[in-house]
Amino acid sequence: MKVLVIGGGAREHALCRSLSLDPDVTALHCAPGNAGIAEVAELHPVDQLDGAAVAALATELGADLVVVGPEAPLVAGVADAVRAAGIPAFGPSQEAAQLEGSKAFAKDVMAGAGVPTARSYVCTTPAEIDEALDAFGAPYVVKDDGLAAGKGVVVTEDVEQARAHALACERVVIEEYLDGPEVSLFAITDGTTVLPLKPAQDFKRALDGDEGPNTGGMGAYSPLPWADPKLVDEVLETVLQPTVDELRRRGTPFSGLLYAGLAITSRGVRVIEFNARFGDPETQVVLARLKTPLAGVLLNSANGTLDDQAPLSWSDDAAVTVVVASHNYPGTPRTGDPIEGLDEVAEKDAPHAYVLHAGTKRGEDGAVLSAGGRVLSVTATGSDLAQARERAYAAVGRIRLDGSQHRTDIARKAAEA
Ligand code: AMP
Ligand code: GLY
Repeated sequence: MKVLVIGGGAREHALCRSLSLDPDVTALHCAPGNAGIAEVAELHPVDQLDGAAVAALATELGADLVVVGPEAPLVAGVADAVRAAGIPAFGPSQEAAQLEGSKAFAKDVMAGAGVPTARSYVCTTPAEIDEALDAFGAPYVVKDDGLAAGKGVVVTEDVEQARAHALACERVVIEEYLDGPEVSLFAITDGTTVLPLKPAQDFKRALDGDEGPNTGGMGAYSPLPWADPKLVDEVLETVLQPTVDELRRRGTPFSGLLYAGLAITSRGVRVIEFNARFGDPETQVVLARLKTPLAGVLLNSANGTLDDQAPLSWSDDAAVTVVVASHNYPGTPRTGDPIEGLDEVAEKDAPHAYVLHAGTKRGEDGAVLSAGGRVLSVTATGSDLAQARERAYAAVGRIRLDGSQHRTDIARKAAEA
């Protein structure tokens, strides 16, 4: 099978790594990719938001499957363009991707499906904003309605900060604060059949101890030793299947990866958000544990044949990933700095620990340079979380990137539990 992956972050590196290990994959391509993905896939400098260009590339390559990684191309309709060219695509249509692209749309679908989530108001005027902030009280949760790469959400005790963020958004969702640990649960679906993956936990805040601003994610781990073993079944029944059924009923069937961001509150599981693609950095740890070859599963989603899929097989190993981010992330990150120590990780830590590239590129002299906010996602497996953590941080310690930052407490509490 010839596979083309669209995107160029650590999630796409993780996808490409798994696909490169799949014996059914005979050729692997990626557009645009990054310096790390270049080691396992052939890169193509195609604009990932240009559906016609992606479809043309897939046709030229004779691709049997196109996997669309990030949300921006999905919301731009890239999966539709590929399907229109007669090539199976993993990823939802532009319309179904609104589940992530518009928080207001997601709330409407959840209401229709009877899926438990935070009570919320959609506001467009200052008066509506004040009314909603008053109605819920502190802590305030204020979300930009559109796509914001995990950075459009402000959770604060400070009403002025909440109001300022709300006023800066064109359309804003203000909602009830949900207490309790967060879980990311992914499911692969073809629009009818839903196949949940293993749960993971992400660390959204920039700094240790969950301090600092929200980011796209600073690290993740799986499994979750503290979670109820029935959690996945419960979420399948109360969240994932009803949402997929509701989207099909509305005439916008959702195929691809349905990401449920959940809060485990004292009153039960609540959906914080849906995403329409694999989460980053959770994918890095979920795929590290998946033993079933990936390409066939993704193709079954694309072809609407997931009911033929054999049950997924998982490793008992634990996995931890630690994101190394640029100076000043999640603000305007500094880029263009050389990254050293990657060879040492490959020499000393493989195969248990490895580096997945996010914002990286090759400089003219061949050196690997930082090229984005999240630069690397250092991933490791072990017989338990403590060992996976140790290996991940040992590898992080070998990497030198001027001004870089990472959290030192990824999976710490869970490993000690
Ligand atoms: P979102 O982009 O909707 O996932 O929000 C980003 C992060 O903000 C989430 O992962 C949570 O940590 C936090 N958050 C979002 N909504 C809520 C809520 N209703 N209650 C508490 N925290 C929230
Ligand atoms: N890890 C959060 C996200 O992918 O949105």
